[in-house]
Amino acid sequence: MNYKRGDFYTKKAKKEGYKARSVYKLQEIAKKYPILKGVKKVLDLGAAPGSWTQFLLQKQKWVVAIDIQPLAIKPHKQLHFIQKDVTELDESFLSTLGKFDLVLSDMAPKTTGIKHLDQQRSLMLSETALWIAQQLLNPKGHFVCKIFESADTQNFFKAVQSTFQKAYRFKPRSSRKNSKEFFIIGLYAYQTAS
Ligand SMILES: C[S@@+](CC[C@H](N)C(=O)[O-])C[C@H]1O[C@@H](n2cnc3c(N)ncnc32)[C@H](O)[C@@H]1O
Repeated sequence: MNYKRGDFYTKKAKKEGYKARSVYKLQEIAKKYPILKGVKKVLDLGAAPGSWTQFLLQKQKWVVAIDIQPLAIKPHKQLHFIQKDVTELDESFLSTLGKFDLVLSDMAPKTTGIKHLDQQRSLMLSETALWIAQQLLNPKGHFVCKIFESADTQNFFKAVQSTFQKAYRFKPRSSRKNSKEFFIIGLYAYQTAS
């Protein structure tokens, strides 16, 4: 293999018709953890350009996708896209979306290069995603959330542990080695908000 791993996944995504190399991170997570088993309806936070949504639609899921930026994929009868800032969604808006079996967040802040600031922004997006999951997940629903490693991630992990029966940390092979990102996976939500 002559390519660096990043180039390999970018080329693979292009060849396979996915809008981003990120799709392979979700595929790896879904291979290792039963996040898609029995799942009908998925909330995809930070969905643009749309490779996770593409993969979910291929798996016949119903998807509500949210991002500040537009999706780069075609409309689909099982897809509802909302162009909004996730941090500005309130409870009354969220309640219009119904309940979900799986909440995903691949949200990432625009990085500034200032490590502490980028970590704090990533944490804030992850905390928002967890709060939304707590509002909208069906009991026994699952959660997958990207986060940048920092001194505060352990506290966030504890919050996931207290919401789900099982919680894991996972760094996919397809995630760039020099990136501080990793994923927190929560399986089988305890009773969430009704
Ligand atoms: C790594 S990309 C997601 C890639 C996507 N999972 C895919 O497979 O195509 C991160 C996304 O998070 C979005 N994002 C960042 N902050 C956000 C916010 N506050 N509300 C909604 N989306 C946000 C960005 O606009 C960006 O599209």
